[in-house]
Amino acid sequence: MSAEQRATEVEHYVNERLISPDPALQSALSASAEAGLPPIAVTANEGKLLRLLASSIGAHNILEIGTLGAYSTIWLARALPGDGALITLEAEPRHAELAHDNLARAGLADRTEILLGDALDTLPGLRSRAPFDFTFIDADKPNTAEYFRWALELSRPGGLIVVDNVVRGGVVADNADDDPSVHGIQRLIELLRTEPRADATTIQTVGTKGYDGFLLARVT
Ligand code: SAH
Ligand code: DHB
Ligand code: MG
Repeated sequence: MSAEQRATEVEHYVNERLISPDPALQSALSASAEAGLPPIAVTANEGKLLRLLASSIGAHNILEIGTLGAYSTIWLARALPGDGALITLEAEPRHAELAHDNLARAGLADRTEILLGDALDTLPGLRSRAPFDFTFIDADKPNTAEYFRWALELSRPGGLIVVDNVVRGGVVADNADDDPSVHGIQRLIELLRTEPRADATTIQTVGTKGYDGFLLARVT
């Protein structure tokens, strides 16, 4: 058995025991699959980590960049108090429409808003909605460093920023790679090297979504 198969078994073993079945999350995934959306939502364990991190800092105002079918959105919105709010940015009308249905089914329509459009166009308009306590960046990877710059600008001091998919099978360490997605992540790492306003670390992950990882930054 490969290390990746082993890790997948462990992921199932632990998730079956520590993550209660949630009909809204399940139907968000099955509706996304039926609609032909790519199966790239966060894993259940990463979704739960997002919820735990957001609730640990008492997040009231959450920003997400990259909605897809709102699977990660549901996890994050579950961290919010009744008067909290989450805004999620999505470029694909078809994804936004399905996300809207999935959020309504999860009973979260009252505290979530989907902003349709290219995130680089909608982010400047969010200055009036800032500061955010927690930001999850998970959209097109070539623009990851630009999204991080925006997240920094829109965050409160002590806020957290999580960036998904910063390892991508390990190619992020390959200087010769000319994939724009890899370059996007490398530019983020270089930005953080000298950015005094953020304190960051990366954690590598392995399991059902292969070998990847996420970055966690605290805004100082
Ligand atoms: N966070 C989701 C997965 C997001 S997949 C989850 O874990 O459940 C990435 C999403 O980003 C896709 O829906 C894609 O349409 C969207 N996206 C890609 N480029 C974008 C852009 N420039 N602006 C906003 N959204 C974008
Ligand atoms: C891809 C995007 C993601 O956000 C992810 O978690 C995994 C894969 C992709 O575009 O391939
Ligand atoms: Mg992702």
